Amino acid sequence: MKIIAFAGSNSEVSINRQLVAYAASLFENAEVEILDLNDYEMPIYKHERELNDGVPQLAKDFAEKFDSADLVLLSLAEHNGTYSTAFKNLFDWVSRIPGRSAWNEIPMFLMATASGPRGGQGVLETAVARFPWNGGNVVETFTLPFFGDHFDSEKQKISNAEKDAELKEKVQKVSQLEVLLSK
Ligand SMILES: Cc1cc2nc3c(=O)[nH]c(=O)nc-3n(C[C@H](O)[C@H](O)[C@H](O)COP(=O)(O)O)c2cc1C
Repeated sequence: MKIIAFAGSNSEVSINRQLVAYAASLFENAEVEILDLNDYEMPIYKHERELNDGVPQLAKDFAEKFDSADLVLLSLAEHNGTYSTAFKNLFDWVSRIPGRSAWNEIPMFLMATASGPRGGQGVLETAVARFPWNGGNVVETFTLPFFGDHFDSEKQKISNAEKDAELKEKVQKVSQLEVLLSK
């Protein structure tokens, strides 16, 4: 099974990247590729840019990479209750590639973390409500509140036993999805 994992953040020290990398490491017999949004930085979406220059090649490169996955793990950073600008810009450009839906029905395990008590619940709810309109097939979700207290950045794993057990249970559940069993 091929997993593409990435954070909805362009921070070099992204806590969401740390979480999604840990989550990806829990899948057995999987080939994992971790993407960095910084490799797909594009001008802000603008109607005239699209008219004049079309969709940037980087958006198409991202889509091709995305489509190589059997399962996508995405951990969203929450900025002012919603997607980070870096993620939204990529989402917007990918959604403009002619003839495709942005997420192309590939099973997605969505997560979010933040330093506060809601753990990015707001952006996660936004994505869960919106993604199906863009070919999103969200099969599972997970939030990690209080990242600083619940994640051991030295060991790169969740330190809160309850949240760690919850994530592992969800990883098991996703691994057993019929569509992934044959991969
Ligand atoms: C512009 C901005 C807005 C933010 N808004 C929120 C927010 O609405 N809710 C929240 O829990 N954290 C918020 N934060 C804190 C982020 O969740 C925190 O920076 C986190 O590290 C982002 O994840 P990342 O490290 O993966 O980029 C905000 C941070 C920034 C820079």
